[in-house]
Amino acid sequence: MARIGILYYSMYGQTYDLAQALAKGVADAGGEVALRRAPETLPQEVVDAQGLQPIIDRQADAETASVDELPSFDGLLIGGPTRYGSTVAQLQNFLDQTGALWAEGKLVGKAAGFFTGAATIHGGHESTLLGMSTFAFHHGMVIVPAGYAIPESQSTRTGGGPYGPTHFAPQDGSKPGLSDEEIAFAGAYGRHFHGVAAKLAA
Ligand SMILES: Cc1cc2nc3c(=O)[nH]c(=O)nc-3n(C[C@H](O)[C@H](O)[C@H](O)COP(=O)(O)O)c2cc1C
Repeated sequence: MARIGILYYSMYGQTYDLAQALAKGVADAGGEVALRRAPETLPQEVVDAQGLQPIIDRQADAETASVDELPSFDGLLIGGPTRYGSTVAQLQNFLDQTGALWAEGKLVGKAAGFFTGAATIHGGHESTLLGMSTFAFHHGMVIVPAGYAIPESQSTRTGGGPYGPTHFAPQDGSKPGLSDEEIAFAGAYGRHFHGVAAKLAA
């Protein structure tokens, strides 16, 4: 059994839903899940002006992430929404605070996986996943690709692919929430990720 940290940031709630689907997959495989939200960096007046507080409140089961806690996990699943085809600032800000862990090699050899979402189906999922993955390269982590070993990779018409779990959510509201395929893919990947992380930890 491995202890998996799911480190994410979500502004409008969809990446949070994807994190929940991953958490279920890890738990179904017998893993222990710690759901952690990267600290908010938006000023409270912006949160209020954009009506984001209810969405933040919906994520109350996720504790605020702490750098010091990261070495206690056997594997880390890291995700956030796509911003201009790249990593969201709140998550990057948190990852950029891990220099001391990097210097001491505290994450070396641990499993790492990445997930994201975007408003459009070709809006930058893969560039965001690959961009986030450099964190794992520099920390000497072992990246766990979804590949096509996960049967859902072969068939999904919405989110999820060999680089990891994804979703898309058009801003016109025509696809509210995660599709069944996106949920199934994330669950399958969560189970797969836990298996690899447990082997590495052993
Ligand atoms: C500043 C900004 C940049 C964005 N850039 C992209 C993008 O490059 N491609 C895309 O498809 N969606 C883009 N989006 C849409 C978000 O990726 C989308 O709303 C996200 O999946 C929502 O995730 P969340 O509900 O977890 O916050 C952007 C949104 C914002 C606010």
